[in-house]
Amino acid sequence: MVKVGIIGAMELEVSALKGQLAGINIKKKAGMEFCEGKICGVDVVVVRCGIGKVNAALCVQILCDDFGVSHIINTGVAGSLNNDLNIGDILISKDAVHHDVDVTIFSYKIGEVPQLGIREFPADAGLISAAEKAIKEKQPDLNYRVGRVASGDQFISSSEVKERIIKNFEADCAEMEGASIAHGAYLNGIPFVIIRAISDKADGSAEQDYPSFEKAAAAHCAKLVADMLPLI
Ligand code: ADE
Repeated sequence: MVKVGIIGAMELEVSALKGQLAGINIKKKAGMEFCEGKICGVDVVVVRCGIGKVNAALCVQILCDDFGVSHIINTGVAGSLNNDLNIGDILISKDAVHHDVDVTIFSYKIGEVPQLGIREFPADAGLISAAEKAIKEKQPDLNYRVGRVASGDQFISSSEVKERIIKNFEADCAEMEGASIAHGAYLNGIPFVIIRAISDKADGSAEQDYPSFEKAAAAHCAKLVADMLPLI
C-alpha cells in the first residue's frame, strides 16, 4: 500500500499541503507534528521536521517506525549551484550527498560517511518520473532539472563556499536536509525523492534574495508535490 511521508523543514514549506489534507489526524513526537490524511486520494503523512540534518534524520526514522511509510518526498527551497537553475526553477534529485562530511584524511572521498560504502544516495527512479510527469502535465512552462542535491548544516551565502561545493560534488543545489533524508531512507530501504524550488543563488546575493523568494518558491514546490502524488 502506498503511504507517502512528505517532509518540509519549515512551516511555509508544508502549510499548503496541510491545507489540502482530508481526514486529518495529528500525532506528536520529538517536537514534530505528524499530520496523517489523504491528498488527492493518496495516504500521506505531512510533517515539518525543523531545519538541519539531525531534525531531518529523526523525522525519517519516525515516519518509518511509527507510520510505516512506503515512500518519502522532501519538499522545500534551495540555493542554486547551477547557472541553468534560476530563482523559481525546480530541482528534482537524481541523488544527494553530504557536503559537510570530510574524512579524506583516512582516504574516504570528500562527503563520504565512513564505512557506509556509498557517497551519493540515489533517488527512486519511479518518484523522479512521477515528478517529471506532473510538471509536464500541470506546469509545462516550469524550468526544471534532475540533478544532485548537496546538504550540510550551513546556509550557503558566499561565492567561495559555493564554488568549493560545486568543485567537490558537481551538485546542482544546496540545502540543509536532503542528504540526511536520503541517508535515512537508504538505511531503511525506503524510496525517496527531493523536490526543491530555487530561492537564491547561494552566493553574496542570497541574503537579499532568500527572504524575498522563499515563500513563493516553497508554495510552488508544494504544488508540484501534490500534483505528483496520484502518479506514484
Ligand atoms: N536553502 C535555501 N537556500 C539555501 C542556501 N543558500 N544554503 C542552504 N540552504 C538553503
